[in-house]
Amino acid sequence: MDRVKGKVAIVTGAASGMGRADAVLLAQQGAQVVLTDLNEKDGMAAAKSIGENALFIRHDVTDEDNWKLVVERTLEHFGRLDILVNNAGLMTMGSVVDTDLESFRLTNAVNSEGVFLGCKHAIPAMEACGGGGSIINMSSVAALHGMSFIIAYSASKGAVAALTKSVALYCREQANGIRCNSIHPDGVKTPMVAKVMSGRDTATQEEIDAIAAAVPMCEPTDIANLVLYLASDESGFVNGAEMVIDNAATITPPTPRV
Ligand SMILES: NC(=O)c1ccc[n+]([C@@H]2O[C@H](COP(=O)([O-])OP(=O)(O)OC[C@H]3O[C@@H](n4cnc5c(N)ncnc54)[C@H](O)[C@@H]3O)[C@@H](O)[C@H]2O)c1
Repeated sequence: MDRVKGKVAIVTGAASGMGRADAVLLAQQGAQVVLTDLNEKDGMAAAKSIGENALFIRHDVTDEDNWKLVVERTLEHFGRLDILVNNAGLMTMGSVVDTDLESFRLTNAVNSEGVFLGCKHAIPAMEACGGGGSIINMSSVAALHGMSFIIAYSASKGAVAALTKSVALYCREQANGIRCNSIHPDGVKTPMVAKVMSGRDTATQEEIDAIAAAVPMCEPTDIANLVLYLASDESGFVNGAEMVIDNAATITPPTPRV
């Protein structure tokens, strides 16, 4: 208990899936949490379920003014900023030849530019609070090996991995005590996976469970446990790391997966 007591976190994409699980676990472990998302209905419900240590703010991570507002309101409401989980993301399907430029740009705007903007605006706020900080960027195993059928997503997550290392180095050079790490999950049982695999915009819990039964996947809480470790002072010397959480999927020989 209380592994992040006294800390204040922003979690993007917290209306659903992993972001919601991250926010819940950080709050259970003593943090005050700002949940942000485009999805107001589910984001507000998630914040309400946590209680007075949570605040929901509608937020488009591709919009720089939105980022300024989110950081300002976090400081006004909770008085400081220690943790940023850049989790919001979307996946678009398509190979290099059948992905249109608009879709490539949108995917990279959310998954990569959103992470850049988050780091850009959180770092000065964390520095002003003193006490260092932890930035956790959600990448994917798609950044570590080629995935021919999700070219835009793969490129965006590769950018997150490289950006994370550069941010970590910048913070070390500044000696500001802020760390920045990326997480690279394989399949996680969330609406995103179900939407992509079912080819529809909505997926029921039954559909998510059926897909997860066919393809090995972890739970959002498995990722949240790693987020908690990286957010806490227990990971004080972990900086610029690519934390892979994939049950050895990326080290297996290139044979069909079961
Ligand atoms: N599920 C997986 O298997 C998996 C694997 C590796 C990485 N990831 C990454 O984990 C993160 C969370 O994914 P998830 O599986 O929980 O998906 P999810 O679809 O359940 O949640 C993503 C959330 O991001 C929000 N979002 C999308 N665009 C946004 C924007 N412009 N501004 C603010 N919020 C926005 C959505 O509304 C949604 O609530 C994503 O970055 C995803 O790429 C997922």
